[in-house]
Amino acid sequence: MRFTLAGIIPRQFVDELLTKVDVVEVINSRLPLKKKGHEYTACCPFHSEKTPSFSVSPSKQFYHCFGCGVNGSAISFLMEYEHYDFIEAVEQLASDIGLEVPREQGKLVDPKKIERQKDHYELLEAVAQFYQQHLQVSDIAKDYLQQRDLSSNVASHFGLGFIPEGWDLLSQRFVPEYTAQQLIDTGLLIEKDEGGAYDRFRDRIMFPIRDTRGRVIGFGGRVLGDGMPKYLNSPETEIFHKGMELYGLYEARKASRKLTRIIVVEGYMDVIALAQFDINNAVATLGTATTKDHIRQIFRTVDEVVFCFDGDRAGRDAAWKALKNVIPEVRDGKEIYFNFLPDGEDPDSQVRKIGKNLFNQSLSEASISLTDYLIQHLQENYNLSSREGSVRFIDEVIKLLAHLSEGLIKDQLLDEVSRLTSIKVDVIRKKMLTNDAPQVQNFSQQGSQAVRLSPVRYAASLLLHDTSLVAAVEDSEQISQTGIKGADFLATLIETIEENPNINGAGIVERWRGTAYEIACLDLMKWQPSFQDQTMLKNEFMGCLQNIIEKSRQQRLECLLQKARNESLDAMEKKDLLTLLSQ
Ligand code: CTP
Ligand code: MN
Repeated sequence: MRFTLAGIIPRQFVDELLTKVDVVEVINSRLPLKKKGHEYTACCPFHSEKTPSFSVSPSKQFYHCFGCGVNGSAISFLMEYEHYDFIEAVEQLASDIGLEVPREQGKLVDPKKIERQKDHYELLEAVAQFYQQHLQVSDIAKDYLQQRDLSSNVASHFGLGFIPEGWDLLSQRFVPEYTAQQLIDTGLLIEKDEGGAYDRFRDRIMFPIRDTRGRVIGFGGRVLGDGMPKYLNSPETEIFHKGMELYGLYEARKASRKLTRIIVVEGYMDVIALAQFDINNAVATLGTATTKDHIRQIFRTVDEVVFCFDGDRAGRDAAWKALKNVIPEVRDGKEIYFNFLPDGEDPDSQVRKIGKNLFNQSLSEASISLTDYLIQHLQENYNLSSREGSVRFIDEVIKLLAHLSEGLIKDQLLDEVSRLTSIKVDVIRKKMLTNDAPQVQNFSQQGSQAVRLSPVRYAASLLLHDTSLVAAVEDSEQISQTGIKGADFLATLIETIEENPNINGAGIVERWRGTAYEIACLDLMKWQPSFQDQTMLKNEFMGCLQNIIEKSRQQRLECLLQKARNESLDAMEKKDLLTLLSQ
């Protein structure tokens, strides 16, 4: 998704932005940095640590954590730290320095893909209408909703529909206006092995699932009676990603401009029943566990979320799974609660039983905070009165908290853990650090790391550090022709800088976001030269280029000599050999 979005903003603008904003300022305004030599450091906000291994390089406009390995540009920092998406991060940075973000409608995006997606949205919308029309005329479907006490108001607000029994109702209605392939691609039809396709949803109440812009992206379907499976959902498609979307979020946002809290429930029917009781801030996952993308979506809208799950075993399992998945998203200023309903109730049945006010009151008063729930759950599972139990408890806590950001929440949790186990906070923190031992070596402290890099990699690191070194390259073609491992990458890097003389290392990484080159660059950006002197940098760089050419000469020479020993050389090869030997 990032990739398509990235295309809409012109690359040149992103390059320019990254030369104008200062990553040090961007980070420092959110996380105070200390100057250390040519760089700035802090305790990493993305993993737990006591001594700083998070370092920000003003020359590369790049941050890197030697502890947990996170790294990136000012854009990546905002994406990680503030949970912005790519566009939001670019917009924030641009507005910080008073720039307007230009849009280049889908130039880098595959235009066919956009067209196809547009058709998909249209098709799904038309199908949703088709299902709704069927509901209007089906007595059994209407009876079913009535029997479940769903008002026709709320049913139409959520766009509920119905599809009668049948194998080809959709193709009869939508082909040839749309192609059968489109119906397959949107998950509406299932393809048969022997060719042909049939309707996925048959004889079901249909729930259209919308994205946050209100576009139908998929469906859930419920059987009218006790058939199996009770619910059937659209499969993952180009536009439908269950791990990202939340049922009811669009409707909740539409219902109120000033949402302060979102309730996460398990079922579509729960969302709808709550809405019928004027509780319009519930969303449901789409038959999957809550992911960290879900919670990010929610935290973009509100600062407080309550998971309201059944009190039974399945509900408790779902809650614990949700907790584990959302821990990396816990931040000071964001609140996460869990609310367990009495055994045998779900939000649908409960709100019908006790009504809106008591339901809301219970959410406010009987919910347990994520941290309390975490402690409570672990306490139930470990015997803290024994030393062994305490140690296992601590091990589990450490595993869970490895991904929790630094802040008051973490401090309080550790205090509590310490109180329960009588193990000092310092000791727990220390254990967290050793468990989380840095995998990546601290290059900047190693000084002569350069000697361990191949000349190609070393040259690329130098360029990423200081793109103006490109002026020393005489012939990038010659480099790509050497055939040495990575030479193509280096040549592309050189050409990219030549074409965009103002670009810096961070800009290059952004340009290659989502590609293998991005990964290669990120890896090389970890390296910091132990010297800053421009002449020295240039000498090192030129040394590398010579090295590369020399290495390629040697390879060619060896190859020809080998051939001369085993078989004979032709005239051209002999000439080559003589030239090589005379150099
Ligand atoms: N679900 C699913 N596939 C199933 C069963 C459930 O995808 N076979 C998902 C659906 O998203 C459903 C949610 O899990 O909304 C909750 O399931 P469940 O608690 O069984 O159903 P209810 O929401 O209580 O639905 P109903 O009241 O209609 O029985
Ligand atoms: Mn139910």
